[in-house]
Amino acid sequence: MMNSFVIHGDIVFCPYKKQMVAIEDGWVVVRDGIVELPYIELPDSAKDLPVHDFKGKLVMPGMVDLHIHAPQYAFRGLGADMELLDWLKNYAFKEEAKYGDIAYADKAYRIFADALYHSATTRAVVFGTIHRKSTQLLMDRMEESGIVSYVGKVNMDRNGAEDLIEETGESFRRTERFIAHTAGKYRNTYPIITPRFVPSCTDELLSRLGWLSEQHELPVQSHLSENPGEVAWVGELCPDSRFYGEVYDKYGLFGNSANTVMAHCVWSTDEEIALMKERGVFIAHCPASNMNVASGIAPIRRYLDEGLRVGLGSDIAGGHSTSIFTAMVDAMQVSRLYWRHIDQSRKPLSFPEALYMATKGGGAFFGKAGSFERGFEFDAIVIDDSVLPHPQDLTVAQRAERAVWLGGDKTGLIAKYVRGTKII
Ligand code: GUN
Ligand code: FE
Repeated sequence: MMNSFVIHGDIVFCPYKKQMVAIEDGWVVVRDGIVELPYIELPDSAKDLPVHDFKGKLVMPGMVDLHIHAPQYAFRGLGADMELLDWLKNYAFKEEAKYGDIAYADKAYRIFADALYHSATTRAVVFGTIHRKSTQLLMDRMEESGIVSYVGKVNMDRNGAEDLIEETGESFRRTERFIAHTAGKYRNTYPIITPRFVPSCTDELLSRLGWLSEQHELPVQSHLSENPGEVAWVGELCPDSRFYGEVYDKYGLFGNSANTVMAHCVWSTDEEIALMKERGVFIAHCPASNMNVASGIAPIRRYLDEGLRVGLGSDIAGGHSTSIFTAMVDAMQVSRLYWRHIDQSRKPLSFPEALYMATKGGGAFFGKAGSFERGFEFDAIVIDDSVLPHPQDLTVAQRAERAVWLGGDKTGLIAKYVRGTKII
């Protein structure tokens, strides 16, 4: 069987929030793309399997990006000089309007998919634009990359731009067509319901999208409580709701019938947090974006301690880097500033906590992904950290920590597996 093998190397993964596992010179047995178990010694029962030998190299779960905007990849690294609402109007909406041109989308999405392919990311939850055909093109490119992804045609029927807005019925019908064309079409690429955020979507549209999610059993992605001005605006637009997340919840878009991921949650209130917990809503923590667009620092220590589901997102182009290694470092760093400046009862995040969010935490959105435990789909990266030389003895766990801090995710990346298939 092509997807049955044993991988040999220095194995690192994070099955628990606060505890990672490191096995020097270990083995992971993979059968039909699924992890059987990691082992310290190669068991007799696996001796007939081919060995993928990465002795002395780090073998870690693939990185999960729970929030990324494919069309914004074009202007990453530009325009980190405004807050969210102005940034959307002046940069994001202007770039996204260009994707009505299929030739432009083709060029841009090839570049995007190639960048993700060469990164440590093995799973991603992706925003397209309002344009159905361009978004389907993006899905074709994502499928070719070998990465597993959810991709959404974005919905916006208010407060867009002249060239980036849809009439309500049209937005709904395009989404129905998008689902008809993409659900079940690919092996690794799936549609996801994608209301941009409450200010972009009327109640009527949100209600129809909730219905689509329920009828087609499709997951949902959106943005929540990212910026104070945005939160205040939602309060004005939806005076009957007690808090932002309640608007999504009212229309079945808050983990009611399907997995839901909300990006940011920097300014969530106690009630919003309680409802996210109750509904099992995933939080995509995007620390680089939260710094660049001056949104603030999300209280991730609280979310982890209270048992909410948290993963990491690059949020290109609010964030400037596709690297989830960088997101891990950013998450640890902003948690130290949060502790110092905001609340000394919220301890900074540890390296295992950052690794957990980047792998198993976000991976849970896809089912059993992001760990080397029995029954998990085998997604892995192999890193040759000898390209980061050092004079001292280090443990395997220390080498993994250092590779994340120093490497930026492409450094020494010599192999990548998705669902048991080697794609690099
Ligand atoms: N809220 C609504 N749309 C966006 C977007 O494109 N990026 C970010 N960071 N926040 C948003
Ligand atoms: Fe975003």
